[in-house]
This record gives sequence, C-alpha cells and structure tokens, in this order.
Amino acid sequence: MISEWVSYMMFYLLATVFCAVLTYCMYVHHVHQKYDHIPGPPRDSFLLGHIPTFSRGAKSDNLVQDLFLQWAEKYGPVYRLNSFHYVVIKVHCPEATKTILMSPKYTKDPFVYKRLFNLFGKRFLGNGLVTAMDHDDWYRQRRIMDPAFSSTYLRSLMGTFNEMSERLMDHLEEIADTKTPVIMHDLVNCVTLDVICKAAFGVDLNLFKQTDSPFQKAVEQCLKGMVFYLRDPFFRLFPKNWKTVQQTKDATELLRKTGNKWIQKRKTAIENGEDVPKDILTQILKTAEEENVNNTKDHELMLDNFVTFFIAGQETTANQLSFAIMELGRHPEIYKRAKAEVDEILGTKINIPYEDLGKFTYLSQVLKETLRLYPTAPGTSRWLHEDMVINGLKIPGSCAVIFSSYVSQRLGKFFKDPLKFDPERFDVNAPKPYYCYYPFALGPRTCLGQVFSQMEAKVVLAKLLQRFEFSLVPGQSFDIKDTGTLRPKSGVICNIKHCS
Ligand code: HEM
Repeated sequence: MISEWVSYMMFYLLATVFCAVLTYCMYVHHVHQKYDHIPGPPRDSFLLGHIPTFSRGAKSDNLVQDLFLQWAEKYGPVYRLNSFHYVVIKVHCPEATKTILMSPKYTKDPFVYKRLFNLFGKRFLGNGLVTAMDHDDWYRQRRIMDPAFSSTYLRSLMGTFNEMSERLMDHLEEIADTKTPVIMHDLVNCVTLDVICKAAFGVDLNLFKQTDSPFQKAVEQCLKGMVFYLRDPFFRLFPKNWKTVQQTKDATELLRKTGNKWIQKRKTAIENGEDVPKDILTQILKTAEEENVNNTKDHELMLDNFVTFFIAGQETTANQLSFAIMELGRHPEIYKRAKAEVDEILGTKINIPYEDLGKFTYLSQVLKETLRLYPTAPGTSRWLHEDMVINGLKIPGSCAVIFSSYVSQRLGKFFKDPLKFDPERFDVNAPKPYYCYYPFALGPRTCLGQVFSQMEAKVVLAKLLQRFEFSLVPGQSFDIKDTGTLRPKSGVICNIKHCS
C-alpha cells in the first residue's frame, strides 16, 4: 500500500518537473521567436544561449570586448545575444544611444545592476549610486552627492591632487637613473587610491610607504570577482572556484567593515564638534542630516556608496593614466608635444594651480584619446520596457540594451583609422563625435566623478612629464586585460630618467 502511494507520488513529482521544464523551454522558444529577426551570432545552446562563449572568454586571455567589436562589424549596429529567457540587444547607433541614454525613463538594466547588489552573497554595491534602479532613489542620492562634486569643492581638492602626485614624484626620484624598470600601473594605482581615500574620506593611507595594503588588494579582488560573477552564473558551483569566491567575499567584507569604521569615526568627530575636513564624506553626512534621512537604512546606503566610490573611481583613473603613459611611450612625437606644452605652462612650478589645468589643451586631447581607445569602464546598459524601432529593426520591449563604448569608439564608421592613437581627433576645430564617444556614459546617469578624475589625471601626468623622461622597456605587450575595468596587461614597464 505504502509502496504504491510512493510510486504515485514519484510519478506525479516527475510529471510536474517534466511539465515545468517543458513549459519553461516553450517560453524560451517563444522569446527566441520574438527576437530572432534581430541578427546575432549563433547561440551556443538552446537554453544557455551565448553564456558558454562568455564564460570561456572570462577564463581565457581574450578580451570579450574584441569579440563584441567583431560581432558589431559582422552583424551591424544592432545585434542580439541570449542567455536562458533573457535577451540582450547590443546597440551602436548614435540616434538610439542619444534617445535611450539621455532619457531618465530608461532605467538601468536589472540583469546586471540588481545582481551587483551582492557579490557571491555578500552585500556589495547595494543600492548605491551606480546600481540604484529606482529613479527617485537614485535621484535623492545624486542630489545628496552633487555638492561634493561642485566646481568650488573640486577646486579645493587641488592640494590633495598635488600632494599625492608629489609622493609618486618622490618615489620616482629615488629610482630615476638607476636603470631599474618600474611597473607604472602599480605606482599610479597607489596615487589614485591615496587620492580617493584622502579626498573622499579624509584618510591618508600613504601607499608608497605601506606596501601590501590589504585594502588595496581587496579593491582589486572585488573587481576581479565581479567579472566572474557577472559573466559566468555557474562560477560558484565548481569546487575549483571556491577559493576565488571566498577571497572575493572576504574582500567585500573588508571594504564594508573599513567603510563602517571610517563613517562611524567621522560621525563621532562631528558630534563632538571637532574640526573635520570638508571632504566628500563630511558633505554626504551633512546633507544626509539636512535631508533628515540619517537612519539605519541610510547607513547601509552610505556603505554601499563607500564601496561604490572605490569600485567606480579608483582603478578607472589609474588605468587611464597607465594607458596614457603607454601610448605616450609608443609615440615620441605626441610625447614631445605634450611635454613642450607642460613645460611652457608649468616651467619649474612645483604646485599646479587650478587655473593651469584649463591651459593643458593638448594634454586633455591625449587623455580623451586614451579613453577613446581604452574606455576603462567599457559600457553601460538600460532596460527597454517598451517596443522601439532601432536602425529600422523592431525591438520588442522587455529586454536589456547594452551600449559598449569600447565597440563604438573603435568602429571605423565613427572614427577614421580607429586603432591609430591620434589626439588630433579632439582638437577644438575637429568635428565633435556624435553620440559614439561616451567613456563616462551619457545623460542623467553619467559619471559623477568625471571632472574629479580628469583633474587628477592631468595633475599626475603633467608632473610626470615635467620632471622625468620615461621610455617603455622593449618587448612588453600592449594588450588589454579585463579585470572588471580595462587595464594594460603588461602594467606598463618603464625606464625612468631625470629630465636632461
Ligand atoms: C577615468 C576615470 C573614470 C571613468 C572612465 C568612469 C566611467 C564611468 C562610467 C562609464 C559610469 C557609468 C557606469 C554604468 O552605467 O554602469 C560611471 C559612473 C559613476 N562614476 Fe565614474 N568613471 C571614472 C572616474 C570616477 C571617479 C574618480 C569617481 C568618484 C570620485 C566616479 C564615480 C562615479 C559614480 C558615483 C558613478 C555613478 C553615477 C550615477 O549613476 O549617478 N567615477 N563612471
């Protein structure tokens, strides 16, 4: 009797599972039918779609963005990718880029940004500025943060930019002329981390003195883990990856714990009426108080933003500087012209005043061209909630639309001879790129730290050109590595000499 009952149960259970799988497959098939008129590469499998290609890419040394570029050249400016029942449309049409990115009604794509709330189960970017999905939630935060990025406040950061860059100069001073090659990426990484800690949170890590900082390693580990987490949904299931998963979780926890410590310290200082620096953290706390939203939920949100600032603002700038140094090293003419401009403006000045930044016309062009070829944060995505016609193709609503700055900025139809490093493209008289150049994204969700980062980059690069001659050690690779942000694979190994 019991065994008969168990058999019935087994039968109904299997039948239910079978029906559920069948229904899901039919749904996936329906989704395919709905979107398959849009061109795209062949799927690796019916259910997984293109996931196997991405997970192979995440494990290999090949840059997934180069594959996207090949596909854009082969399938055109609008093409489709699948994973399970999700559809992603890659778009490289200036008009559609303008329509979607410039409008607040297209929110961020939940497939990517909601997932980044956690990293392998640990709260990571949460509801912070980059990942906030709800417009009102995001807008309230952006308003709170905005004063900390006002031109008056940024101007006051010139002291920090100068001071932290001087540490790099002191370090290079010690090794110049010794014929000891240096990995420039490691050094500029120390500068940008020192800058963000000091400028945003009033903490002086002094990474040139403190080698092997666990905090620096944690930022890197989170970025690395993020690539696996986003590109391979099965990554954590394989025992061989458990060590990486654990290291990433520990790194996330370390960032949040550090954030908690720094925020609490600052709150106590303010409560005790102490004189605190007028940095980004103070602004955030002050404005939060003014808004009367300083509750536990907002404390978690502040931690989300603490992590967000390190993830969004540190490596991105360091990588831009490394790529700029790499390209200057590869192009002696461009190097000479940039140096001549710096020498003319700075002479023997040690501190770069704010007023001088606007005079570095050619250096700005070099930095812009660097971000064209190497957009260190290579794209953004939005949710298309309603049908839209893009490039003559009907795109049914309920899918993600991805804008890849790496692809757009390397397409021959937008930039002639696209692989050539040519700062002249950004000459004041050259035609302005029309919605095909967006290394800081565009529209309301554009990068909050754009001006901050370019002020910082100019100070570091100008001082470097003023004081030292650098040359690339021959034989190194000029390839790009994807570690969450794009960075030079070689680390940019240079010989440093004093200027003659
Ligand atoms: C070269 C340096 C930088 C590049 C290329 C860059 C690029 C970007 C891009 C592409 C986005 C959009 C991300 C997305 O939609 O997923 C973004 C957003 C953001 N970035 Fe940057 N960024 C840089 C430096 C910085 C710095 C230094 C900070 C802070 C000090 C910063 C803070 C932010 C924030 C808070 C957002 C979110 C803005 C919002 O949604 O309201 N970034 N950045």
